[in-house]
Amino acid sequence: MSQRTLVLLKPDTVRRGLVGEVLGRFEAKGLSIVAMDLRTIDGEQADQHYAEHVERDFYPPLRAFVTSGPLVALVLEGDEAVEVVRALNGATDGRKAAPGTIRGDLSLSNRENLVHGSDSPESASREIKIWFPDLP
Ligand code: CMP
Repeated sequence: MSQRTLVLLKPDTVRRGLVGEVLGRFEAKGLSIVAMDLRTIDGEQADQHYAEHVERDFYPPLRAFVTSGPLVALVLEGDEAVEVVRALNGATDGRKAAPGTIRGDLSLSNRENLVHGSDSPESASREIKIWFPDLP
């Protein structure tokens, strides 16, 4: 079933010049880009996006990281897009993520792990509304 999912190419992806590499993997898989924007967010938007994590110990440095520079926000669409993107991203911790995945090949960090993908269709609709409220 065709689905949409919210993806962030986090500030480390932009800083390291990996936007083309990471975006290319999603495109090569066959997912369509239906919205895309380079933006720098403030702490309030980070809190909204990561609402389920704001009380966690790891959140303050994560908040500082995601607001530290421009990121690329995008909506991808395709068959089972939520699961497909999560599989391409790999495990949260880049040190443990399987080779062949974006994090497994390109990240050595649990926080600076290059990408975010919505974890369920419900999260995807919530996150897409936050990032692209005008997307039809
Ligand atoms: P993401 O998929 O965007 O969802 C929550 C983010 O929090 C995660 O990717 C990481 O960037 C970060 N994160 C999750 N767990 C930890 C952790 N234990 N330590 C540091 N950062 C974390």
